[in-house]
Amino acid sequence: MSLQTKLVNAGRKKRYTQGAVNPVIQRASSLVFDSIAAKKEATENRTNGALFYGRRGTLTHFSLQDALTEIEGGAGCYLYPCGAAAIANAILAFVKTGDHILVSEASYEPTQEFCNHILKDLGVETDYFSPLVGRYITNHIKPNTKVVFLESPSSITMEIHDVPAIVKAIRNINPQIVIIMDNTWAAGVLFKALDHDIDISIQAGTKYLIGHSDAMLGTAVANERCWDRLRERSYLMGQMCDADTAYMAARGLRTLAVRLKQHHESGLKVAKWLAAHPKVATVNHPALASCKGHEFFARDFTGASGLFSFVLNDHLNDVQLSDFLDNLTHFSMAYSWGGFESLILANQPEELAKIRPVSGVSFDGTLIRLHIGLEDPDDLIADLSAGLDRIKLNKNKANALQSLI
Ligand SMILES: Cc1ncc(COP(=O)(O)O)c(C=O)c1O
Repeated sequence: MSLQTKLVNAGRKKRYTQGAVNPVIQRASSLVFDSIAAKKEATENRTNGALFYGRRGTLTHFSLQDALTEIEGGAGCYLYPCGAAAIANAILAFVKTGDHILVSEASYEPTQEFCNHILKDLGVETDYFSPLVGRYITNHIKPNTKVVFLESPSSITMEIHDVPAIVKAIRNINPQIVIIMDNTWAAGVLFKALDHDIDISIQAGTKYLIGHSDAMLGTAVANERCWDRLRERSYLMGQMCDADTAYMAARGLRTLAVRLKQHHESGLKVAKWLAAHPKVATVNHPALASCKGHEFFARDFTGASGLFSFVLNDHLNDVQLSDFLDNLTHFSMAYSWGGFESLILANQPEELAKIRPVSGVSFDGTLIRLHIGLEDPDDLIADLSAGLDRIKLNKNKANALQSLI
């Protein structure tokens, strides 16, 4: 069955839909047993789809969990109130005091902050590696390394990992290491993490699964080896989302394929336009050769989503940034992405360098991150074009630029 068809049908068993097209929204803390025997049966099967207690989930949660398990190809899926909770709890499930964890230095900043503060206080040591480390990940592995945490494409700078090389190298040295990946950019579908022998695929469901910027969710799909431990440890940490959010994510799945297709097409159109713009130094779009690790994207991914970045020739000051960003019509400034709407954020290289402890940053200009939404890409290009025109460069730079045009 093609992915597109799976996304429409997954998790829509009769038990969950009860005759409707969509799963029921079953809001519950208490789930009531009719008899001692029914209570006993529910207790015995509480990890296996029985209605037991709200925190173990209801029919609405089970429907989404089944759907994501099928779509990402795992043994089970745990749900969390947000993506950050999924990341923290997946890591915590597999480390203890005295352990060591390796994390991509280009992972989402709060992932790094979690490691630098909470894991540190628990006596778990974190080392960072370059997103382009490939098989040389082995240089970083220690006897007490328990978890390797990947994120590809990287946050903000968009480098793509050579996942097969990384995974093979880790498995050769120590097959017990748990490999976790933040797979949010690919919405769990454009890159099939578990097919690449990654143990746990995490998504901030907040982004493409919800898809409408109106709810928060975290998901973690685990393979057979890690599922029981992930589920039980997450349960003990009190993790679960509410039924309404689970319902909204399941609804998001039905349109995910068409939304992603449009994000891909529109994003690439805008990226190619930017690549030819005289004020742009480089475009970090995984589908373009200018993006670091593009060859791994071309080999391992089936498409792109809508998030990418570009670097300006110039380091803009706050006035120049305001001239560019404050008066855009179709782009809002916000920290999130993955919804139907276009978003924009600026990052200065000196700020980024602080969260790139291994390789630093190799550019001087201001980086702009875009999420290309579902608007007409020509409207977005016109908006960006006017915005870039509003940036007043200092006189020398402006003259140099003029001579290039
Ligand atoms: C790559 C990535 N992972 C995880 C998260 C965290 O998700 P949430 O905001 O749902 O906690 C984000 C949020 O922006 C993200 O960009």
